[in-house]
Amino acid sequence: MLYVVALIIHVIAVIIWIGGVAFVTMITFPMIQRGSSSLEQVMMFQGVEHRFSKIAKAMVILVGLSGLYLINEKGLNVGAWIMIFVWALYASLLFGLEKIIFKKIFTTPAGEELDTKKIFFILQVFHWVILALSFSAVAAGIWTAHY
Ligand code: HEM
Repeated sequence: MLYVVALIIHVIAVIIWIGGVAFVTMITFPMIQRGSSSLEQVMMFQGVEHRFSKIAKAMVILVGLSGLYLINEKGLNVGAWIMIFVWALYASLLFGLEKIIFKKIFTTPAGEELDTKKIFFILQVFHWVILALSFSAVAAGIWTAHY
């Protein structure tokens, strides 16, 4: 029974988290890129990012805890390692690396303007890459549970 509860929590948290990443990648970034000024683009990005990062952090914790419990019940295998790898990548991004990266890309030497077009293009490509990795973790999870 507890196993099923953990699995339900695991999958719902994955849906909210990866679904959010998909939304940001497919909807928010194209909207930002149509923004009329650099200031508007940065504000829009930071608004979404600020709100979503809290939700994503909570979901990453839930997925990790429920995942640990599931491993305790089912044992480790290749699929679980793929999920753990993708989870660890996100966790390090959300709980540290992201702040450092954003600080670096959004600070320019005095007098120089931000090249937002280039920055948001790179961020968009990066989001497609992590979204693809996320899908591989979803596939690994389903494979682990149903093979
Ligand atoms: C990117 C992160 C993750 C994603 C997208 C993900 C996704 C999934 C999905 C979709 C399932 C299949 C559920 C089903 O079809 O019944 C699953 C199962 C599972 N997940 Fe994850 N998961 C992630 C992270 C983790 C982590 C960090 C762990 C371990 C610490 C973990 C351990 C497991 C285990 C053991 C199962 C199999 C449960 C069973 O055999 O019934 N997952 N996961």
